[in-house]
Amino acid sequence: MAKIVGGITTSHIPAIGKAIAEKDFESHYWKAFFDSYPPVREWLDEVKPDVAVVIYNDHGLNFFLNAMPTFAIGAAQEYRNEDEGWGIPEIPPFPGDPKLSWHIIESLMAEEFDLTTCQEMKVDHGFTVPMQLMWPERRSPEVRTIPVCVNTVQHPVPSPKRCYDMGKAMGRAIRSYGEDVKVVIIGTGGLSHQLEGERAGFLNQEFDEYCMEKIVEDPVALLDYSIPDLVRLAGSQGVELVLWLMMRGALSDKVNLLHKKYTIPISNTAAGLLLLENLD
Ligand code: DHB
Ligand code: FE
Repeated sequence: MAKIVGGITTSHIPAIGKAIAEKDFESHYWKAFFDSYPPVREWLDEVKPDVAVVIYNDHGLNFFLNAMPTFAIGAAQEYRNEDEGWGIPEIPPFPGDPKLSWHIIESLMAEEFDLTTCQEMKVDHGFTVPMQLMWPERRSPEVRTIPVCVNTVQHPVPSPKRCYDMGKAMGRAIRSYGEDVKVVIIGTGGLSHQLEGERAGFLNQEFDEYCMEKIVEDPVALLDYSIPDLVRLAGSQGVELVLWLMMRGALSDKVNLLHKKYTIPISNTAAGLLLLENLD
């Protein structure tokens, strides 16, 4: 049977992709940030997940404001990246796992989560930057990927509770898959940030630290926030916290915190890194 081995949260911002492309790992600005990733890579090297479910939001590459699904999932053989205009080189396609994708889709639909299913899907920085941070060397055979895309861009955005509940259903779906595969769940984005308007540059360290603590021990404490609460407390793009909550929902109630780092500021955001071992 499939096993969920752990969950990871990470920032996904394009500036990281640019720093990677320029190998700018040691400068004063980036050193502390990049130095926080080796423990996560060592764990991945040791545990060797076969599949990564990557929960992110598309920022306008595959979906745009003309047609914005609340929840979309990839069911393709591979996922291509394209130029988004951030000055990051395009990176080679990522392999998919359509059989596991369809199993998750069928299980989630049976639990009344109505998804947009994508047999073609371009993946933007929300997906590619976390993949580059986790697996900087793309050795063969590569980890197979399942992109799960949540609308955090155009309101109404799904609530923390809805995303956590879908994560729970996704966890049940993966655990009921008959093949012996190890799966890691990656929740991307966050933490507090706002890119536009009067509050552009808004950060809230106190709230971020509260979220990083609660998401490990007591994620249910975060489920009563509404989306307007999150906009107020974490900024308009801080609602990406729902992506972390979906990841957390897929794990066991008790998890083992293996690594934690908070770096502020990184571009306009606070970057939170967590590595959680699943205790199933
Ligand atoms: C930034 C943050 C994001 O979440 C994003 O998707 C793009 C850019 C930033 O802070 O630069
Ligand atoms: Fe983002």
